[in-house]
Amino acid sequence: MNPAVNFVDALHNESFEDRYLSKRITHQSMIYDHGREKESLNGNWHFGIDQYDTCLRADWYKESYEDSEGRTNPMDFSFDEWETMTVPSCWNTQGEKYFYYEGSVVYTRTFQYGNRGEERVFIKFGAVNYDAKIFLNREYLGCHKGGSTPFYVEVTGILKKYNRIIAVANNTRKPSQVPTDNTDWFNYGGIYRDVEIIRLPETFIKNFSITLVPGSGFSKIKVELEVEGSNRNGLGELTIEELGITFPLEVSDGRASAVIDAKPELWSPEHPKLYKVKAVFENDVISENIGFREIRVEGTDILLNGSKIFLKGISAHEESVLNGKAVTEAEIIENFTLAKEMNCNYMRLAHYPHTEKAAKIADEMGIMLWEEIPVYWAIQFHNEATYQDAENQLIELIKRDRNRASVIIWSVGNENADTDARLKFMSSLAMTAKKWDPTRLVSAACLLDHVNHVIDDRLAEYLDIIGANQYYGWYQTDFTNLIKLFENSKPAKPVLITEFGADAKAGHRGTADDKGTEDCQLDIYKKQVEVLGQIPYIKGTSPWILYDFRCPRRLHPITQDYYNTKGLLNADKSYKKPAFYVMQDFYKNINP
Ligand code: GCU
Repeated sequence: MNPAVNFVDALHNESFEDRYLSKRITHQSMIYDHGREKESLNGNWHFGIDQYDTCLRADWYKESYEDSEGRTNPMDFSFDEWETMTVPSCWNTQGEKYFYYEGSVVYTRTFQYGNRGEERVFIKFGAVNYDAKIFLNREYLGCHKGGSTPFYVEVTGILKKYNRIIAVANNTRKPSQVPTDNTDWFNYGGIYRDVEIIRLPETFIKNFSITLVPGSGFSKIKVELEVEGSNRNGLGELTIEELGITFPLEVSDGRASAVIDAKPELWSPEHPKLYKVKAVFENDVISENIGFREIRVEGTDILLNGSKIFLKGISAHEESVLNGKAVTEAEIIENFTLAKEMNCNYMRLAHYPHTEKAAKIADEMGIMLWEEIPVYWAIQFHNEATYQDAENQLIELIKRDRNRASVIIWSVGNENADTDARLKFMSSLAMTAKKWDPTRLVSAACLLDHVNHVIDDRLAEYLDIIGANQYYGWYQTDFTNLIKLFENSKPAKPVLITEFGADAKAGHRGTADDKGTEDCQLDIYKKQVEVLGQIPYIKGTSPWILYDFRCPRRLHPITQDYYNTKGLLNADKSYKKPAFYVMQDFYKNINP
């Protein structure tokens, strides 16, 4: 009898998770999947709310229905008689009884697979919040931590004609995680992005990046390619038909790198030009639509393709009333369309990596993006395991979106108190971002010194752009200190006001002094833009926030009702508050 299914042992083993944590799925397991054929495993999965983690404790994945003598074991589960849950979705939105559930859910489904000869096969999970343990055909494949980035498990040789996959998703908030147990947004749970089977040739392209070479006068393109498989040497080829480029890629010991002369039309919000790029090695062919642009800072200026710009932005969470974090493409397009209606050229996707579909749509619609990992508030900056978790999420985000022209800034966090431990933790993240992607800008939404009224965060030394959250007129009730703050500050780098704003319950009216009214929000917005438009080193703003969002910290029954109501629209985006038009006008007239 396998001891792990000895029901008495399973009850007494409080370190049951250790055996699963030994197999961590990290960014190293990522494969390049753009433009590849994918077979969907979306749909109805059986699921069980497993509050006490009995599945992991008692190794349900081994499906030990009989003992070694063929006698039937008593079972506490029956996978295919459970109720079903839609994948992808957040379970919170799939039924009132699941809304506030935090804990483990066991997802499972069966599926058929037809092998097509010698191939490598992976299963991709677009995102699972927060901790995912994956099993296939009675084998444990690994554990991924991080609620907003994709991960891949190789299933070559494990797949059969008939298969059972099990995923244990646990969204419990923990102080040691990234983010911690305390945030200002709703903690959705589940397999909330696509699950897909990806078939690859035995030798395949594992990584591929292509970018304009910074400082090359927009006339050189750098391509890097990494292959995995039995043949790691040979000739590949890069094709950009519209630029008349067909370029040989010499792959040696699994890697190729080349710089190619080219004069592409440059990508910008006004001209979101994309080129179809194709790369071939052996039997593997990949392709994706690529925009070529250069983003850099010079003194306190931000330059896109050599011209000064002002980032006319708005912040947004990844959420819809109907779908939670499992937003649809239509909802993403709606958000970007609203931003453009506000005369935005930029959005801050807060506070964690949004779906990869967002950056792809932003490439097409012409919206520059700030993408962020959830190093949010009081992270355990002394905890090495926490750092590894944060760094892995950052590298997963960079590897996922590094070919997206719309992404111009990687953010390593938000509103973290300036301590020595935090400085070491976040400067390391900033340097990691630079190492993995020297072509983009690195920033963070920093706190300000409201005692001495000055922008003075030690992390700024490691950033290209200083992000600054300030709520003068709202949390900082004496608005006059905002002007003092800017007069006292002498930053040598561009500053983005990454947040300002005020609560306003949609339709709730009063005087400018009545907190929580549209009139108060309008007054604060008018005063803010009046000041921000005058500060020479401020090169962009992304007010907080496009639309109201669910937040368990916001319990004022009249102006909040478990929502953060700082939106410029209400939660279902059916109503624009008056302050929306303040930003629309400000962005129409502001110059870099
Ligand atoms: C903070 C934080 C946001 C939060 C906002 C608020 O700056 O970054 O996540 O929602 O302020 O208080 O509404």
